[in-house]
Amino acid sequence: MLGKSCPAGYKKARKGTGRVDLQAIVDDIAAAIAAQTDRGAVATYIPGLAKVDPQRFGIAIATADGAMLTSGDASAPFSIQSISKVFALTLALGKVGDQLWERVGREPSGTAFNSIVQLEAEKGIPRNPFINAGAIVVADVNLGAHQPREAIGEMLQFLRYLAEDDSVHIDEDIARGEQDTGFRNLALGNYMRAFGNLRHAVDLTLGVYFHQCAIAMSCVQLARAGRFLMFDGRLPGGSRVVSPARARRINALMLTCGHYDASGDFAFRVGMPGKSGVGGGILAVVPGRASIAVWSPGLNANGNSTLGTMALQMLAEATGWSIFQPHE
Ligand code: DON
Repeated sequence: MLGKSCPAGYKKARKGTGRVDLQAIVDDIAAAIAAQTDRGAVATYIPGLAKVDPQRFGIAIATADGAMLTSGDASAPFSIQSISKVFALTLALGKVGDQLWERVGREPSGTAFNSIVQLEAEKGIPRNPFINAGAIVVADVNLGAHQPREAIGEMLQFLRYLAEDDSVHIDEDIARGEQDTGFRNLALGNYMRAFGNLRHAVDLTLGVYFHQCAIAMSCVQLARAGRFLMFDGRLPGGSRVVSPARARRINALMLTCGHYDASGDFAFRVGMPGKSGVGGGILAVVPGRASIAVWSPGLNANGNSTLGTMALQMLAEATGWSIFQPHE
């Protein structure tokens, strides 16, 4: 699949007026994805994810001019999993600011999302906030002086606010599955606690982490929630969520670390800051232009959505939205 370009048809959407017909592009992408036979493998470590139909596909694009373009299962909630790490990081930076970087790095790991190997040599400081170890430290910061229930409630409220939708919720079945099978995450938490890099009891911090992974959102809700990252930290109405510098830095981390050991390949193929989750979702940001969510549950060997990545590559090729392409 490496280097696969757009099937014929995408470029057609530009013909005639020279303007991009985004809805035509989105519909063409959905049709091309529906025709794919190699869909990757749905995550099976918990029953709640294993039962998801691999044929499902959704795409939603919130554009800078306020439009929302959708195709496929764009309104169906799915488990956002590691995409939650973007919003958890945003909250943690709001609480402790740059002090966070004393406990978490900002470098790509080049290892799997749940890897433990670097923690020994790097004294319990995870490489970045998007690998599991880093997200567990972020969850520890967000727990702060709260009870786990309050910390996860705060996260949920934040996502409901950004998505302008109170139906964003936690899938309790998925949360239980994470808790029942999260031995490796517990190992990461205990290991970091041994280095003094967790402030709370490991089971409390992990309770926050497991529940944030179990948040269910649709592509439409996620695309809305990502808008502050396309608007330099502001919402469309002008309310500020984070400073411009912080929004740019979160985007930088998404580009360099958002797809684990496949972050380079995602930047190469798509050229947008993006964050994946093992539920098959990807949130991608085109600063100044769009916040995009795609969902296809089948994963590649790195735990990133196979066809979600392909859909974003098609979108980037059809629109010229790679951040590396000069914008007029
Ligand atoms: O920590 C875990 O194992 C999962 N709940 C989340 C991992 C995840 O989404 C990794 N992303 N591709």
